[in-house]
Amino acid sequence: MRIFGLGLLLILAACASPPDLATTAAASPPVLAAFRGDPPVTRAEDWTNRRAPLLRAAFLDDIYGRPPSLGAPTVERRQALTLEGIGDAVVEQWTVRLGDPAGNRRFHMIVAAPRGATGTPLIVMELFCGIRSAIPGRPETVFEDKAVLPGPCRSHALDPVLTVILGKRIAGPSIAEVTGAGYALAMFYPGEIAPDDPVVGPPALAALQPNVPPDKRGGALAVWAGLYSTAFDALTPDPRFDASRVAIWGHSRHGKAALLAGALDPRFAAVISHQSGRGGASLSRSRAGETIQQITDEYGFWFSPAYARTAAAYGLDIDQHQLIALIAPRPVMLGSGLADTWSDPAGAFRAAEGATPAYRLFGSKGLTATQLKNDFRPGDDLAWWTRGGGHGITTADWTAFLQFLDAHLKS
Ligand code: GCU
Repeated sequence: MRIFGLGLLLILAACASPPDLATTAAASPPVLAAFRGDPPVTRAEDWTNRRAPLLRAAFLDDIYGRPPSLGAPTVERRQALTLEGIGDAVVEQWTVRLGDPAGNRRFHMIVAAPRGATGTPLIVMELFCGIRSAIPGRPETVFEDKAVLPGPCRSHALDPVLTVILGKRIAGPSIAEVTGAGYALAMFYPGEIAPDDPVVGPPALAALQPNVPPDKRGGALAVWAGLYSTAFDALTPDPRFDASRVAIWGHSRHGKAALLAGALDPRFAAVISHQSGRGGASLSRSRAGETIQQITDEYGFWFSPAYARTAAAYGLDIDQHQLIALIAPRPVMLGSGLADTWSDPAGAFRAAEGATPAYRLFGSKGLTATQLKNDFRPGDDLAWWTRGGGHGITTADWTAFLQFLDAHLKS
């Protein structure tokens, strides 16, 4: 069971030396320097018109592959759910079809809103364990296809183990708390469209992009990134939600997808990427934590085959600070656990620092935190959150996520 391999890695990582900025090199190349024949950038409009399109293409060609077109979403069904312990929220389950009915591609969302909401900010989340486990008691009325879930997520018997290892909020946030704070929530499991599995994932990815040569195929992260945009399309016609205040949230593998989605789709007002690590917020050139070789050996189908080719010696002229910079000047929160060395917190800090000159072009301060620990400034456009402990999602993380969202989406 892969997750127990993951658990072991997390324990090993926790025993590794703590993240250290002093031994982590600054991001390179400098984000505004000349790049692939494009002269240095000194003005916001040159960033937007010249540099950003060049960088977007570079990330897709060299790291993630291009997200396939999934077809326009149609909300086929909205079903009200009667649930315990959700405060004064209205909770529904949506079935969303992609493209025409013959394609037979569907995913399911839990959509929760404060009662009586209109024009409310919305958090769109990709979950790790499917949507049923996000609801306490795993009610049968909530959709679950066990076949596409990670093994340990298939039985509620393991829920207590998962929460001990990965935190109380690993399966999903408290709906009562988040809607009580004035946010709507939409949660889905992207493995329904691109399965998160090395055996069934690659053929599903091939079927999503029948005319693309294997060498050029978008990996699972590209599809998951595209699904944030699909969810936006499906959700924002609903007047309960404010399309100009949609934040996307992802943890770990979905934190990588959330950053990519933010970089590709300007409609997202804010991005929260928690413990996204290699292929996410942490610099690929950093020497701590998971290596490119390790991630592409184990999870090669998440990426374009091009990324694995750079594994032994990182031969690319791009790095993850440029991905974060593509979201500028929109707010990004990066979360870390100090014992989660596998996800390389110091490499993510250096990436946020490296993205900051792009934020400054737009008059934003970018990152102002100066140290890894205890330097959370929720109002920063590049907000840096760390806590003690390892990989996972805790109640303290959610307090911090909401502080960040309050500072940016409610002011
Ligand atoms: C593995 C993988 C990481 C990933 C993590 C997760 O540990 O190596 O890159 O971020 O799983 O998604 O939980």
